[in-house]
Amino acid sequence: MSDETRGAMRVGVIGTGHVGLVTCVTLAEFGHDVVGVDADEEKVARLQEGKVPFFEPGLQQLLDKTLSQGRLTFSTDAASAIADREIVFICVGTPPRASGEANLVAVENVARQVAKDGSSSLIVVEKSTVPTGTADRIRRTIALEMRASVGGIEVVSNPEFLREGTAIEDSLRPSRILVGADSPRGHAAMRRLYARSLEEGTPLIETNIKTAELAKHAANAFLALKISYVNALARVCERTGADVVAVADVMGSDPRIGRAFLDAGLGYGGFCFPKDLDAFEHLAAQAGYDFPLLREIRRINEEAVDAVLVKVREGLWNLEGKRVALFGLAFKPGTDDIRFSPALSLARRLIEEGATVVGYDPEAMAGAKEEIPELELASDGYAAAADAHCVVICTEWAEFRDMDLNVLSEMMAYPMVVDGRNVFGPDEMRSLGFTYYPTGRQAIA
Ligand code: UGA
Repeated sequence: MSDETRGAMRVGVIGTGHVGLVTCVTLAEFGHDVVGVDADEEKVARLQEGKVPFFEPGLQQLLDKTLSQGRLTFSTDAASAIADREIVFICVGTPPRASGEANLVAVENVARQVAKDGSSSLIVVEKSTVPTGTADRIRRTIALEMRASVGGIEVVSNPEFLREGTAIEDSLRPSRILVGADSPRGHAAMRRLYARSLEEGTPLIETNIKTAELAKHAANAFLALKISYVNALARVCERTGADVVAVADVMGSDPRIGRAFLDAGLGYGGFCFPKDLDAFEHLAAQAGYDFPLLREIRRINEEAVDAVLVKVREGLWNLEGKRVALFGLAFKPGTDDIRFSPALSLARRLIEEGATVVGYDPEAMAGAKEEIPELELASDGYAAAADAHCVVICTEWAEFRDMDLNVLSEMMAYPMVVDGRNVFGPDEMRSLGFTYYPTGRQAIA
C-alpha cells in the first residue's frame, strides 16, 4: 500500500449542497474514495462533468483534481452508494419551518435509507447543523426500520465550521475538528478519516454526541452575538460621537475578547446565522429554557438595516424619484449567496419607499434579480453610481475599496455615500467632498 492510499476509506456523502460538495472534495483530497449522492439528476450529471453549481473560491480546481484522480464520483442512487461504504455523511438541508424549528425530514429519510442499505458496521456522520438530540432520533429511526437495535451502525456528530467564501481553506486546514461519539469505535473511525489533518497538527476535540451537536449552535449564536453587540455599540457611537472602529480595536486588543467578528455594519445574513439562531432558540424552548438573548441578537441585527435606511432618508430627504446604487448584493464578499442578505432587505425597503434601486455585485446579480425583479443591475460599480443620488456600500468586496473616488463623485448626481461596511473612512471622504454616513462613526453631512 502506498502512502497515498494508506488508510483510505470508502465514504458516501448524502447531499451535495455547499457543505456536502465541499465535504466531498475535501475528503477525496485527503485520499479517500468518495461518492457524492444527490436526488437531483441534472445536478449530479453536471457535477460528474466537473461543473460547480455555485461560486466558491478553489472549489472548481479541487473538483477537477479529485474527479480526474478517480477519487470522487457522483450518483443519484443512494441505495448502492450507501451499500458499500464504511462512512456515510449526512449533508442534506435542514431548512427552517415557519416556527423557526429546523425541518429534519431529509435527515430522517437518510436514516431510513441507511437502515435499509447500510452495512452492519456503518458509521453515520451528522454534518448538517442539527438540533441536539438528532443523533438519538437517527438511532431510533434506524432501530424502528430494522425492527431491531441499531446493531453495529454507529452515529457520530462532526459539525462543520466552514465559512462560505473560504470553505475550501476552512476544510483543508480547519481551526479544529469536532467529533462527538458515544463509543470508542466512532472516535477511532473519525481519527482514521481525518488522519492527514491530525498529522498536520489540527486540534481534535472529542466529546459525546449531544455536546458536539450543541457546540455548533452555541458557536454560531455567539458569533452572531458579537456582531449584534458591535452593531448596538455603533448606534450608541453615532449618538455620542465615539468611533465604533476604534472602540472595537480597543476591545479586540484584549485576548479574552478578540477583534474578529466585531465589524459593525449592515448585520449578518446568509443561510447559517439567521436559521441556526432560530433553531437554537426553538431547541432551548423545547428543552424548557427561555433564551431571550437570542431574540435580542436577531432584533439588533434587523435594526442594522433600519439604521442604514434612516441615513439614506436623512441624506436624500424624499426617496421618491431618487436613484440609489447598492454596492454588493451577496450577504458577504467571496460568495454569490443572497440568502437572508441584508442588502436585499434594504433594496426591498428602498423600492417600497419609491426609490429606483440599481445594484452591482461581482457574483450575486443573477440571484438578486430573481428575488427582486424591480432591481436594476449595472455592469460595475461606476455604472451603478452613474446619476445615482446616493451609493450604499452593502458588501465589502475588495474592488470597492480600490475604486477611484474622484471619478465616482463626478459620475454621481449627488456625491453621497452611506457606508454600511465602513469600507472608507470619514477623513478620506471629507477631503474628497462627499456627504458621508459611515456606521458607528462620525458622519459628514
Ligand atoms: C458561519 C460561521 O462563521 C461558520 O463558522 C459556520 O460553519 C457557518 O456559519 C455555518 O454554520 O455553516 P458564514 O455564514 O459562511 O459562516 O459566514 P461568516 O463569515 O460567518 O459571516 C456571516 C455574516 O456575518 C455575514 O453576513 C457577514 O457580513 C457578517 N459579519 C461577520 C459582520 O457583519 N461583522 C463581522 O464582524 C463578521
